[in-house]
Amino acid sequence: MYTTLKSVLEEASELNMAIGAFNTHNLEMVQAIVKAANNQRTPVIIQTSEGTAKYVGMRTLVAVCKSLAEEYGVNVDLHLDHAKNWDNIREAVDAGFGSVMFDGSALPFKENILGTRRVVEYAHAAGASVEAELGTVGGTEDGVAVASDAVRLTDPAQAVEFIDKTDIDALAVAIGTNHGQYKSKTNINFDVLKSIYEVAQRPLVIHGGTGVSDNDIHRVIDLGIRKFNVGTELLVQWNRKSKELYDSNKENTSNRNNVMPALDVVQEVVEHKISLFKNI
Ligand code: 13P
Repeated sequence: MYTTLKSVLEEASELNMAIGAFNTHNLEMVQAIVKAANNQRTPVIIQTSEGTAKYVGMRTLVAVCKSLAEEYGVNVDLHLDHAKNWDNIREAVDAGFGSVMFDGSALPFKENILGTRRVVEYAHAAGASVEAELGTVGGTEDGVAVASDAVRLTDPAQAVEFIDKTDIDALAVAIGTNHGQYKSKTNINFDVLKSIYEVAQRPLVIHGGTGVSDNDIHRVIDLGIRKFNVGTELLVQWNRKSKELYDSNKENTSNRNNVMPALDVVQEVVEHKISLFKNI
């Protein structure tokens, strides 16, 4: 079924697991991600940056996700990741995205609340869910870099006030992870996560999932992480495999011979991550 973030995260909370949220950069990867979720029998979140959503087309993304959800019998939420632009947010909600993330993390606290409330009002009226971020996750994502001196961990007391004043469906927390970290593993601040989990009455979201070690995945899920974002690992695997094939195959070979093996690798990574996110 094509569904919403709120709905898949309710299921995750009930079962003390996380739902994988995988960043796609094109339409092909969507299919590999849904196939992996089907094999693992879990719901899945497909997410895109504003750039990818514009490139593929928001209505096209919705149509493809609806069609694949039906074809495979998988619960799929389509999510706009790190949206800052109000027009893009409205376009996604109007096109039928199941959820959007408003990223006001770089704004002063009150501005973040005001921006998030505006998005919540619009999205909830259309039946879509909203994620927002408090604190700052470091690293680089889709070309946007956050300098290490700009990183601020989430303050648990502020998290309570933020949730109370915005009525978001999920809170992205800054607990030491970085976007795009694929050559080393993250030092997660479990004390901060625990303090947030003890007081925040909403599903929590981890960004920069590529850098989180397999062992830490279970620990953060036991402390309330319900949406687990993974982007870079899929992208790197896709690029490596397709580069190898584009280099070795003849120029006049069908494009699918370069793309399909790269999709198999993406599917494998997604399946492995989902198997960990089940927290068994
Ligand atoms: P990684 O690319 O580091 O896995 O992070 C993905 C993410 O958090 C998307 O918002």
